[in-house]
Amino acid sequence: MYTLTRTLLPALLGAALLTACSSNQENKQNAMIEKSSFGQTADGQEADLYTLRNTSGMEAKITNFGGVVVSLTAPDRNGAYEDVTLGFDSLAPYQKDSPYFGALIGRYGNRIAKGKFTLDGKSYTLATNNMGNHLHGGLQGFDKVLWTAQAVEGDEPALKLTYTSKDGEEGYPGTLNVEVTYTLQRDNALRIDYKATTDKPTVVNLTNHTYFNLANKGDILNHELTLYADRFLPVDQTLIPTGELRPVAGTVFDFTKPTAMGARINDSTDTQIKYGLGYDHAWILSDSSQGLKRAATVYEPTTGRVMDVSTTEPAIQFYTGNFLDGTLTGKGGVKYAKRTGFCLETEHYPDSPNQPKFPSTTLRPGETYQSTTVYKFSARK
Ligand code: BGC
Repeated sequence: MYTLTRTLLPALLGAALLTACSSNQENKQNAMIEKSSFGQTADGQEADLYTLRNTSGMEAKITNFGGVVVSLTAPDRNGAYEDVTLGFDSLAPYQKDSPYFGALIGRYGNRIAKGKFTLDGKSYTLATNNMGNHLHGGLQGFDKVLWTAQAVEGDEPALKLTYTSKDGEEGYPGTLNVEVTYTLQRDNALRIDYKATTDKPTVVNLTNHTYFNLANKGDILNHELTLYADRFLPVDQTLIPTGELRPVAGTVFDFTKPTAMGARINDSTDTQIKYGLGYDHAWILSDSSQGLKRAATVYEPTTGRVMDVSTTEPAIQFYTGNFLDGTLTGKGGVKYAKRTGFCLETEHYPDSPNQPKFPSTTLRPGETYQSTTVYKFSARK
């Protein structure tokens, strides 16, 4: 399957246009997936951009460079579809400037303290790239590699991305075969299915790092957030969890009822807000069952757009774009100022390889890592 994908697929897709007719004749338009060039990487490899469209007209543009979601449209209360993600118009800035816009994150999403962990009595040292810690897979994480892509036509078009991470890459043990499938569902949801296998014991925590702005402009402070989580993980000054699972009740981390993201974001009396420069923490989902469960709902009052996030993961990182500072010029020439995008990254807990009380992120030969997250869009009148 791998060989077939790598050798034949580029030729098969050479025609650049793949159209899949919808089986449902009542739908407004056909679902489709289309391939175009996204330019060359710094080391001369061709990157592609895939446009997925569903029968309602929702559209996702995804590149096989870093598996980045370059744009994603969603309907407002009048049925107008607009891009609800931050990103760049071209490939070059994704290779050097991007704060992980839209990207697939691996081998380990979020931080591993001091880039060190021990597994089965052996110590491993990873690349450190964030305040002395390892963040989002290191210097060249899964967000900065070229994935092999396979377009899957159908009523719900999908893009299957595969990547083989070598034994020792960024310091991690084991060859990791990763498969991520993006599916644009007919119910206006983008579903992400992750799978991985290894040939040596290793640690895995995959996620997606899309920055959303449901208004398509301005800051995100008026977006109303509900997190179906009654505890969160306090962090130290370098954003490593202290190990405590703290109840959100009575704190500025309580989003169990819809609350504007900006309502308490500058609470200078809260040490955790100070450390994160806003929200940059993992919340533990109240529903600890293994299946797909609701994690978050975001409502944007001016457009009526709603995003519902569900996941099989136990936690979700809510990050409010605190490190955006207006120096990045994004799509359409927009300068991304502080808090103009937010991320809801579904995940296992940060630093789990060093925290035996956290759910395990160890993957062993013979096991399959599997995880699913769904971002579903709708609108309120
Ligand atoms: C992290 C932030 C980090 C950001 C990178 C988030 O997932 O939690 O601390 O700055 O990614 O853009």
